[in-house]
Amino acid sequence: MAKPIQHRNHKKALAHPIFKTLTQASDELELEAYVIGGFVRDYLLNRGLPKDIDIVAIGSGIDLAKATANLLSNNPKVAVFKNFGTAMLKSNEMEVEFVGARKESYDRGSRKPAVEDGTLEDDQNRRDFTINALALSINKENFGDLIDPFNGLEDLENKVIRTPLDPDITYSDDPLRMLRAIRFASQLDFMIEQNSLDAITRNRERIKIISNERITDELHKILLCKKPSIGFGLLHKTGLLPLILPELTALEGIDEIEGQRHKDNFWHTLEVVDNISKATDDLWLRWAALLHDIGKAPTKKFDKKIGWTFHGHEFVGSKMVYKLFKRLRLPLNDKMKFVQKMVFMSSRPIAISEDVTDSAVRRLVFDAGESIEDLMTLCEADITTKNPKKFKQYLNNFKKVRQRIVEVEERDQIRNFQPPVSGEEIMETFNLKPSREIGILKDAIKEAILEGEIPNDYEAAKAFMFEKAKKIGLEKV
Ligand code: CTP
Repeated sequence: MAKPIQHRNHKKALAHPIFKTLTQASDELELEAYVIGGFVRDYLLNRGLPKDIDIVAIGSGIDLAKATANLLSNNPKVAVFKNFGTAMLKSNEMEVEFVGARKESYDRGSRKPAVEDGTLEDDQNRRDFTINALALSINKENFGDLIDPFNGLEDLENKVIRTPLDPDITYSDDPLRMLRAIRFASQLDFMIEQNSLDAITRNRERIKIISNERITDELHKILLCKKPSIGFGLLHKTGLLPLILPELTALEGIDEIEGQRHKDNFWHTLEVVDNISKATDDLWLRWAALLHDIGKAPTKKFDKKIGWTFHGHEFVGSKMVYKLFKRLRLPLNDKMKFVQKMVFMSSRPIAISEDVTDSAVRRLVFDAGESIEDLMTLCEADITTKNPKKFKQYLNNFKKVRQRIVEVEERDQIRNFQPPVSGEEIMETFNLKPSREIGILKDAIKEAILEGEIPNDYEAAKAFMFEKAKKIGLEKV
């Protein structure tokens, strides 16, 4: 990432024409106003200028929003959230949120604060991190001045996440911030300052008052980082992980019996997630990597002859995916089915990679369907051996499987397999009502194609159908 901007003139950050209007509206209302939070942080980090602007007014944010909208030529609608004292408008591609500066005090049982009007400093105090409390003045008189009472700029330069107040207060007030700290550390590659880290550890149980939707929002952001293991490592270190994803914590540790050990499946999983993140930005494939081994904890056994086994972990793991998605309020739709499928099939390419037969490849493609490339990407990411020779060998095996998939695909078109002879045709040919026999014939044709006994075409399938029908005593009418 680029180095933070060092100079003190920040007018450049406010070059977008919307700021001219914001200045005019605040000056006309004689309100002090500032842009604060993520916009300032990302500008100073040279991460580009965000489309979301948070404005804090010393006075009514709602009035400022309305005045701004009146001055804008496109006269945008203002959404007012009276209960929160906030307002929002969208103008062209920018989304501007307005809030009056406030002092907050929190009830321990919830995230809902009691709110009082306050100064800019009060408002900066109530924010989560020093790097998110940086404010730029938008009034004409001191346009672009940086107001940084907690040395947030220094923290940006030193890559440190620190709370403006005592971290026990900041995190206990709004426990979601514990996840935000970890997410920012992971996204920006920053360190969480030690006091803060200790406070997260102490306050971890308070995560229970946060809704699962907000938790998964942060988990998604961590998973979408360049190196998600930073975030998951911190969740583990602070003891938050067992409260959110106990299925992952259960993978930690190495057991040894009679000198035989298995790998630590938790740290292995994090390596797999980092690996896959180099190959894909797809959130759900990254989820699949995170969950691909969760069935290993409940299936772990020691066998005197063969050592440690995890029989059926793929099946058990795919069942666990449903429960986990339901608990975390993740979507129970085709995204979940995709993750389940990846977990369920995660060992299949390995099983065939030593001896790649055509029929095994056809079955793999048949079962994986459209997800075959994703499955191969997952398997390649799953190689975490530290033995360079083995690493190369495993990767090469998968390369061969990929090649065979292409060859078999060209010839047999298995990916979106459609039965070459339809159920209707079978019924007509043998004058059948919907019955078991139709399934038997369709299945036999599919099996013959997958096994390579017949090619995947209509004529061959029909001839095969007659043969098979004869065997089960069906006559053509
Ligand atoms: N904020 C806070 N505590 C929270 C959430 C937000 O103090 N739990 C404050 C921070 O000052 C933050 C600002 O509100 O910068 C805006 O929040 P939000 O838009 O959620 O986050 P950003 O910091 O803009 O960053 P991102 O969009 O990456 O979440």
